[in-house]
Formats: sequence, structure tokens, C-alpha cells
Amino acid sequence: MEVILSGMRPTGNLHLGNYFGALKNYVSLQELYDCYFFIADYHLLTTHPNPEDLLANVKTILCQYLACGLNPEKATIYVQSSVPEVAELYMYLNMLTYVGELQRVAAFKEKVRQNPNNVNAGLLTYPTLMAADILLHRATKVPVGKDQQQHLEMTRDFAERFNKMYKVDYFPLPQAFNFGNDLIKIPSLDGNGKMSKSYGENATIYLNDEPSVLKKKIMRAKTDSGPTEKNQAKPIEIENLFALMRSVSKPEIIEQFEDAYNDCSIRYGDMKKQLAEDMENFVSPIRERIKELSSNEEYLNKVIRMGGEKAQANASKTIKEVREIIGFKKL
Ligand code: ADP
Ligand code: TRP
Repeated sequence: MEVILSGMRPTGNLHLGNYFGALKNYVSLQELYDCYFFIADYHLLTTHPNPEDLLANVKTILCQYLACGLNPEKATIYVQSSVPEVAELYMYLNMLTYVGELQRVAAFKEKVRQNPNNVNAGLLTYPTLMAADILLHRATKVPVGKDQQQHLEMTRDFAERFNKMYKVDYFPLPQAFNFGNDLIKIPSLDGNGKMSKSYGENATIYLNDEPSVLKKKIMRAKTDSGPTEKNQAKPIEIENLFALMRSVSKPEIIEQFEDAYNDCSIRYGDMKKQLAEDMENFVSPIRERIKELSSNEEYLNKVIRMGGEKAQANASKTIKEVREIIGFKKL
């Protein structure tokens, strides 16, 4: 049986890109495989979050995971810090990791460039902690975006190194989960790149945006003065509006606006109004569930406890076996 695992750092609210690029896939995977989905609060410590905010951030993401359809009865949904066994595996893996290979990681180099005054050892060893997350559950498939591919390759290297060092075939070498088609990319509303929480409030649609906010963001999205020739190629900001429409609107609606674009009769105001309406219909049930869940503290605590216990049962088995392989025999 394939074991699927993925995690996300609790850095704020989920947006439409997170939904279509990650959560929607998690929801379908939980029906088919043994899935672990966790909230990476240890990873967050590289940026020294305020103690008062830490649990609140975790609960925000948890509510949004559940509101998107992750089911704690089907998948193991847990908080990383509920399973401190991961820190032990992280230490063992660090003993097999070269400082040089960590210094060469693209994401690390980028962080150093952005924040030269906060280059802590935790940031350097981020890939080893991520490998520990994956190997702790002996996961075989990891659904991640392109930006995490290098970390995943390193996880394979560490797993292979461990197996070779101790002459065992213990850790499977995890692969990226392949959805059979190209990964979906939800564009930003301002015509630049992908939707992301780092690219400004107005360019990103959050799953908990209020109806008026959502509408305003879409109505303000960048457009141009319209096509002047039939079947003209679309400039990027117009293509982005169509891409957003393709994610939430009915096929006949999309076709109607495609036709209008191609015969130059399109009115972007109408298109945005339609997109805002379809987006609202898509987001509103999720937004309502987020509201309901966030007022149900007792249920959230129960989900955290239950997931923690399930994840820990599996983790402690791995750690026991790893200790034996390394040579720590129980006396
Ligand atoms: P952000 O760019 O907002 O910081 P993250 O890097 O935390 O988002 O992404 C978490 C998950 O959501 C990853 O699996 C990533 O591939 C997916 N994701 C984020 N933004 C998008 C997007 N615009 N389109 C598709 N998937 C996305
Ligand atoms: N590094 C991932 C990100 O920033 C989050 C993460 C931590 C993760 N541990 C993981 C993802 C293990 C997949 C598997 O998005």
C-alpha cells in the first residue's frame, strides 16, 4: 500500500492556489491511500513566531484543511509537534548529512539572500527535518509542488545513505506524487506569476475572504482595452482571468467568454462580474465551514489529539526499529 504524506507550514490563510494545487488533491488521495497530512509547526520555528500566535496559526490551517474536505476518519491529520519522535529521526539524519550539500540547496540560498541576519542552523537543516517528516512514516509518495522537488531528492539521498550505511533496506525512497497531468497553477490577480500569499493582499483570493472583499479583488483585476483582431492571442492578465474562470465556472460559461474574446465582443466588466459570482458560489460553502469549525474549539482539539495519537503510534514503531538498526539495543 502506498503511503502518502504531505505537510504545510501554518503561515496564514489558505488561498485558491493552495486549494487547487494541494488540498483538492489531498481530498481525493485520502479516499485511495494511507495518507498523512500534517501541519509543519516545527518548521515554522526558523522564523521565531510569537508563542501566543503559534497554536492559533495551527488551528487556522486545521480549520481550513477540514473545511476543504480533509477527513480525520480517513486520513491521519496531525500537528508536527504532537509527534516529537520526528526530532529524534532528524538528529540521526543530520549525522549522515553534509553541511556542503545543505548549503547548496536553492531554497536555503534564497532565504540567506532575503534575510542575511537570520541564518540559523535550523534553516540550514530544513531539508533534514523535512526528510525526517517523510521517512518517519516511511512514505512512498509525496504530493508537492515544483519548489519542493529538490528537498524530496535530498530525502531520497538521505534514505539511501541510511540504508547503505546500516546495510538494510529499511526506508523506501519517496517519489513525487504524479497526478498524470501537469500540476495546476492558479495565477495571481495582478497579472504577475502564481497566486501566493507573498504577493500582496489584492492579488490573492483567500478561502475565507468575505463576499464583498472577494468581489472587489476580482473587479479590480488587471485587464486591457480588449482584443482588436479576431482570434488574437491573449495577453497574460487576460489569460489569467480565463484560467481562474476555468477553475470555478461551468464549461458553457467559459465557452461563451472564449467566443466573445475571439470575435472581439467581450466586455471585461461582464466577464469579471460572472467570475466574481462563480467564485463566490465556489468559496461560500468553504467559508461557511471555516466559520463553523473555528467556533468549535472542542472538535478541533479532538481532531488534534486523535491525529497526534495515530501519527505517534506509527512514528514510535519507526523510531524503535531505527534505534535497533543503529545499534542502540534496549537493555
Ligand atoms: P505560498 O506560495 O502562498 O507561500 P505555499 O508555498 O505555502 O504557498 O504552498 C503550499 C501548497 O500549495 C504547495 O503544495 C503548492 O504547490 C501549492 N500552491 C501554492 N500556490 C499555488 C498556486 N498559485 N497554484 C497552484 N498550487 C499552489
Ligand atoms: N517544506 C514544505 C513547504 O514549505 C512543507 C513541508 C515540511 C513538507 N515537511 C514536509 C511537505 C514533508 C511535504 C513533506 O511547502
